[in-house]
Amino acid sequence: MTRYESRDGRLRLFRGDSHGLHPIASGSIGVILTSPPYWVRGRGRSSAERYAHDLAVGFGREWKRVLAPDGDLWLVIGDRHDGAEWVGMDALVIGWLRRTGWRLQSRGFWAQTRSRERWDNRVNYLLRFRKAGQVVRPRGATLCWMLPLPRSRPDSIWDAIPEPVVRAVLEGSKKRGAVLDPFAGAGTVGRIAASLGRQWVGVERDPSMARVAARRLRLRRVRASRAPFRPSV
Ligand SMILES: C[S@@+](CC[C@H](N)C(=O)[O-])C[C@H]1O[C@@H](n2cnc3c(N)ncnc32)[C@H](O)[C@@H]1O
Repeated sequence: MTRYESRDGRLRLFRGDSHGLHPIASGSIGVILTSPPYWVRGRGRSSAERYAHDLAVGFGREWKRVLAPDGDLWLVIGDRHDGAEWVGMDALVIGWLRRTGWRLQSRGFWAQTRSRERWDNRVNYLLRFRKAGQVVRPRGATLCWMLPLPRSRPDSIWDAIPEPVVRAVLEGSKKRGAVLDPFAGAGTVGRIAASLGRQWVGVERDPSMARVAARRLRLRRVRASRAPFRPSV
């Protein structure tokens, strides 16, 4: 994997497929916060189920390995009407993660104002999971926002998670251990994590998006090392 990092080594980005997170040491991550690519092309139940299964099983195995036992997994999941019915993608993802040993701890959403999409494409669920047996006590905070879609970077084809959502999530999550975004996009989670004094690791498959993120975070390309990345706490 091509690797980029900040001068002080607190921000790192790997250019590669996050089905495999082998450069990251087991149990070294405190919070995973990410918005996977939404299910936009498919239609019908079996396609929706395949998407949820690939996310929870195909990617989830590595999330479980790198996350600390009491770490938080936050997913932003888009939902939509597929022409025949409202899909309920959040429920499909919750179901598959539950079967693979995760438990839902918080559920919120942000709805987009001034969306380019039809009304029924505007809901983004925010789901917090922990490994089975690691319960989070409910807090007073309401995880609910009406926000304009963040203006995409001119050089990014992806939309970012809005900053108030990222801040609220990181402020309410486990404070020790690095923050991981396995679908790093333009690196927005990394920028906010850095501003809160957190270490951050990103993984991005698309080389041009990885370059955008590296530029925004002022990372330089470094020689890949064989030793797994073990963030200091
Ligand atoms: C919705 S964007 C993420 C936006 C990002 N969280 C932000 O706030 O800027 C999804 C990103 O996941 C990347 N991606 C898709 N499949 C991937 C994979 N298997 N491994 C790593 N990155 C992947 C895409 O290239 C895209 O940049």
